[in-house]
Amino acid sequence: MLLHGHKLGACLPPLLRSGALALLNENGALLHGWIAHHGSPTHLIWPEELQSNIASLKCVLQDSGVAHAIYYGAKANKSPALLAAALGAGAGIDVSSLYELREARRLGADGAQIVATGPAKTAAFHRELIAANALISVDSPEELDDLIGSLPSDEREPVCPVLLRLRPHSQAQSRFGMPAAAIRRCLAQIADERRLRLDGLHFHLGGYDWPSRAQAIDEVAGLIGECRARGFSPRMIDIGGGLPAQYVDHDVYQAHLAAQAPEDYRTREVPASFYPYGGRLSAATWLRCLLRAPLADGRSIADYLTDEGLVLAMEPGRALADHAALSVFRVTRVKALACDAHVLFVEGSSFSACETWFRSEFLVDPILIPHDARPAGAPPIRAYLAGHSCLDDDVLSNRWLTFPVAPQAGDLLVYANTAGYQMDLLENQFHRHPMPNRLCVAQDGKGQLTLIPDT
Ligand SMILES: Cc1ncc(COP(=O)(O)O)c(C=O)c1O
Repeated sequence: MLLHGHKLGACLPPLLRSGALALLNENGALLHGWIAHHGSPTHLIWPEELQSNIASLKCVLQDSGVAHAIYYGAKANKSPALLAAALGAGAGIDVSSLYELREARRLGADGAQIVATGPAKTAAFHRELIAANALISVDSPEELDDLIGSLPSDEREPVCPVLLRLRPHSQAQSRFGMPAAAIRRCLAQIADERRLRLDGLHFHLGGYDWPSRAQAIDEVAGLIGECRARGFSPRMIDIGGGLPAQYVDHDVYQAHLAAQAPEDYRTREVPASFYPYGGRLSAATWLRCLLRAPLADGRSIADYLTDEGLVLAMEPGRALADHAALSVFRVTRVKALACDAHVLFVEGSSFSACETWFRSEFLVDPILIPHDARPAGAPPIRAYLAGHSCLDDDVLSNRWLTFPVAPQAGDLLVYANTAGYQMDLLENQFHRHPMPNRLCVAQDGKGQLTLIPDT
C-alpha cells in the first residue's frame, strides 16, 4: 500500500497508471537505487503515456469523422522523448520559440508538422519558420508586418502558410490574438501578398472548459465565411490547448476543496485559486462534448467542420503530458518546529515541483517511499515541505501534510503528474546545484524496469 502525506480525512491521492503504479508499489528498492545514482530530484518520464493520450483523442476525432491535426504543445515540458513520442504517434508540434522549433526539427519534424504560436516571435524565429515552411499563427497586425518583412524576396520560394489568431469576445482583456476588425485588416494585407497563404484561423483560451471553445468556434465560423467571400480558401480552425487533465479523482478533489480551511496551511491562508487537478471530464470526453455542441446555425461542431471541409487543429500541452512523468525527491532532514509541526527538507527545490511560486498549491498528495522498514505503531507526523535553498519561499507544499509513518532522511517523496508545466518550468541552478536529471522509464530485454537517457 502506498503511503501519502495528506490532510487527515481529506486525502488527495494521485491517480496513477500501471507503469507508475508498478514502480512505486513493487520496486521501491529499485527506485532508491536510481535516486542514489542519478541524484535528487530526478524526473522520470513515460513517453508512451503521451502516445496513449494522443490515441484517446484521435479515437474521438475518427469516430466523429472530423479531419484533424493534433499538435503537442512543446512548452509543457522540456523532454525530447515526449516530443519524439508525439511525432511517433502522428502528432505535430506547437512551438513557441526558436529553440522549441530547432528541437522539433532535430527530432525529425518537418515543416508540415509544426505550428508556431506566441505573440512575440522574433525575426530569427520567423526566418527559420519560413525556411522550414512551417505554419505560423500570426498574433497581431504588427506581427504580420514583421513577418512580411522577413519573407524572401524571391517569389519562387514556397508560400508561407499562416493562421490568424482571433481574440474571442470572452477574452477581451487578453494580450493574445486580435479582435475581428484587426483580422479583417490582416486579410486585406494578405490578399495583396502572394508570398503568404491564409490556411485558417486560430484561438487559444485560458481556462479548461469546452463551452467557451464552442462559443469561440461560432465566432470563428462567421469569419471563415467572410474569408471565403473574399476569395480565400481557409482549411483549418485551430482551437489551441486547454484540454483538461485528471491528476486526482474529481469527487475527491471537490470534497477536498470544499473542506479547505486556513489552518490547513502553514501560512494560515487558503490560496485564492487552484488548477483544476481533478477535472470532471477526461480530455477525450471533453472533446466529444465539444464536437457535439451546436453552433448558432443549429449544426453540431462536428457537422459544421465536415460540411465545410475544415480540419480541426488543436495544441494540447498539459492534457497530452497527463500521467507522463513523476518527480522523485530525497528527504534530507526532518526538523521539529513544535510538538505537532515539522518541516521536511528535500534535496531539490520548489523550482522542480510546486505551485507556491504562483501563490497556489500543487494539490496532489506526495507519496512516501521509506528507505527501510519502519516499526509498526510509529506515530504519524505533520509537516510541510521545503526545498534546500535559503529562500524563505522555497516551499513545495505550504499545506500541512500528515504522514502515517514518520519520514526520515533518505526516504523518497514522489510527486505524480509533474510533466505538464510542473517539473521543469522554473528549474535553474540556484546555489550552483546541478540541473535535475530527466530519464525515461523503459523495460529491458528481460522485462526489467530500466532507465534510458532522455535525449
Ligand atoms: C497558443 C497556445 N496553445 C496551446 C497551449 C497549451 O495549453 P495547455 O497546456 O493548457 O493545453 C498554450 C499554453 O499556454 C498556448 O499559449
